[in-house]
Amino acid sequence: MKPIIAANWKMNKTVGESVLFVERLSNEFAKTDDKDIIIAPPFTALHPVAAVLKGPTLHLSAQNMHWDEKGAYTGEISAGMLIDVGCEYVIIGHSERRNLFAERDEYINQKIKTAFKMNLKPIFCIGETLDERNLEKTFEILRRQIKKGLNNILSDDIRRIVFAYEPVWAIGTGKTATAQQAEEVHRYIRKVIIDLFGEKAGANIRIIYGGSVNQKNMGSLMNQPDINGALVGGASLDFESFAKIINF
Ligand code: PGA
Repeated sequence: MKPIIAANWKMNKTVGESVLFVERLSNEFAKTDDKDIIIAPPFTALHPVAAVLKGPTLHLSAQNMHWDEKGAYTGEISAGMLIDVGCEYVIIGHSERRNLFAERDEYINQKIKTAFKMNLKPIFCIGETLDERNLEKTFEILRRQIKKGLNNILSDDIRRIVFAYEPVWAIGTGKTATAQQAEEVHRYIRKVIIDLFGEKAGANIRIIYGGSVNQKNMGSLMNQPDINGALVGGASLDFESFAKIINF
């Protein structure tokens, strides 16, 4: 399976900074064909970044979208608008959206359906909090997030989703799950997909890990059989650091 290395820039970088970064990335990695590199800049930089991003290795993603196709939703962005500016992927259900903006599983499910309808590939984020892990509820929480987030999704569409396991306690905290901890959960996620959508759907999905990934821990994470890539926040903001992660 081709690994995915995705950069989630969150609320960082101006248009100028984003374009400079992606021009450099395009120069250095446009010919790398054994990895998919996904960049998720802020909304304001999507369109200018699309103009300098060179495929087929490099791909553009948004960090969020609204579940409805259009309407009176002041301040929101639709799937059609993301397609219009050149997005191929969209991050859905990031824990910062779930926790800081009260995004429920039902909205996330609706967003995934709308993304499919508009031909965007969802990067579907799931993960437990520290309290949930300490209470040994990790598997239960993940099963619930998957079941509700993918309610009424067809088995044939599952392969269009990138699953991102992001333990909330590891995001931006410098605490990474150990490669073994992450692998255990990734294996479980694959099992849940097989239970719910069948063997073929489960075998074909890419499950990437996110949460304090950096150039030091990337190698050991990627050595695990069920870890198919990384979603990188903080360490993707600096070009040298992100380039080293891509070259793990
Ligand atoms: P982090 O963020 O790498 O800064 O922990 C990852 C993410 O939130 O996607």
